[in-house]
Amino acid sequence: MKFITTEDYYHMSRVAANIISAQVIMKPSCVLGLATGSTPLGIYKQLIRWYEKGDLDFSEVTTINLDEYKSLSPDNEQSYRYFMNKNFFNHINISKSKTHVPNGLELDEKKACSEYNAIIQSVHGIDLQLLGIGQNGHIGFNEPGGAFEKETHCIDLSESTILANSRFFKSYDEVPKQAYTMGIKSIMQAKKIIVVVSGNNKADIVKEAFFGPVTPKVPASILQLHPDTTIIGDKDAFKKVSDLI
Ligand code: PGA
Repeated sequence: MKFITTEDYYHMSRVAANIISAQVIMKPSCVLGLATGSTPLGIYKQLIRWYEKGDLDFSEVTTINLDEYKSLSPDNEQSYRYFMNKNFFNHINISKSKTHVPNGLELDEKKACSEYNAIIQSVHGIDLQLLGIGQNGHIGFNEPGGAFEKETHCIDLSESTILANSRFFKSYDEVPKQAYTMGIKSIMQAKKIIVVVSGNNKADIVKEAFFGPVTPKVPASILQLHPDTTIIGDKDAFKKVSDLI
């Protein structure tokens, strides 16, 4: 694993956006695995800026998002499809038909998951996967558990995730309790992975996930076994591992 220490959130976002830009420039028809959450927002802003300057062309890019709340429709402001459109896709020249997010409205779990697995297979592999990491070590919505789930599955969100994400909802009760998420195998099959972490509240999990044992109790720990993973963090997020990297 490679670690890049950055000054602050802005610098972290720029470094990650640079790596994504390089991917798009080197392979215009690449497949990007994308993430939601607060951390990637600065990356999307930077990529939009470069697109507006004429430096980036997304017309041939395909995207696969990690996850979606079960039961939320794409026009629900809290859905991840809405998030991606609002914060990224609406501002660049990507073809919406090439952007994929699990179908939150499909309540038949088996169908929703097998349809998303089929999409992941049809794009013949993710070139670059962007990940955030939850304070409990989740990647996508692969929550801590007894085993690494391989493919897209429906997950009962953990209490800590519901609590963390309730900041985006009017109340805790409004947070959906289930979600569809890409599985660990699909994430690990990405050719290259970048993980972004920012702030003091990620310092403990950074140490646990990347310097502790590989265990499904800390899903992000599996990334230690990936051949091309780069963790980009600001000083606060890296403060407990600065002497190890
Ligand atoms: P955050 O979420 O970027 O909002 O901290 C990360 C995650 O939960 O995966």
